[in-house]
Amino acid sequence: MNLSDVIIRPISENDSIDDLTDLLHRSYKQLADIGLKFVATHQDSDITRRRIAKSNCFVALYQGRIIGTINLYLPGIMDKFAWYRKDGVALFGQFAVDPDFQKQGIGELMVQHLENFAVQHEVTELSLDTAEQADHLIAWYKKLGYRFIDYINWDVTNYRSVIYSKNLIAKK
Ligand SMILES: CC(C)(COP(=O)(O)OP(=O)(O)OC[C@H]1O[C@@H](n2cnc3c(N)ncnc32)[C@H](O)[C@@H]1OP(=O)(O)O)[C@@H](O)C(=O)NCCC(=O)NCCS
Repeated sequence: MNLSDVIIRPISENDSIDDLTDLLHRSYKQLADIGLKFVATHQDSDITRRRIAKSNCFVALYQGRIIGTINLYLPGIMDKFAWYRKDGVALFGQFAVDPDFQKQGIGELMVQHLENFAVQHEVTELSLDTAEQADHLIAWYKKLGYRFIDYINWDVTNYRSVIYSKNLIAKK
């Protein structure tokens, strides 16, 4: 697969939310298998739909098939934790690449796409949160320029989360 053949675009109303939910389950299974109950390991299509409605959802396509997805929550949308209430802070989540297509650079391409979109929308900090035990993800986000911010607890997970964030001002 050539990365230049991967297209990233906003989700459209013709995209199947059931298929996207299935993609999330298949991708997040590796986290469920190590005991981390991310919502995306088991969420139903209604939750997928509700999360998309609150965000800017992008999908990655290869040969017309959706092989990745990521949601961007612009500043002001997530207000549960102090860091997310700060001006200019956006976050991303519901982030998955089809297991058959992982470790080929698609995830990084999607994050870069999101960072460029976020900069155009007055975002100064792009953040994410993940399980504090997910060492492989934390190492990867650090490699992409994200730094530790805080610990938080969502009610719906069985782990404590860590917020990581990247300052985007230099990207302007
Ligand atoms: C996290 C996730 C979206 C990353 O997607 P991805 O397409 O695999 O990401 P990339 O390919 O850009 O990078 C992943 C790894 O592959 C490596 N890689 C990238 N291109 C590569 C290539 N051509 N050959 C070999 N390895 C490659 C990267 O260096 C990185 O390695 P590292 O983890 O050792 O640093 C994907 O693994 C996933 O869906 N995971 C399950 C759900 C999840 O964890 N979501 C995030 C929750 S916070």
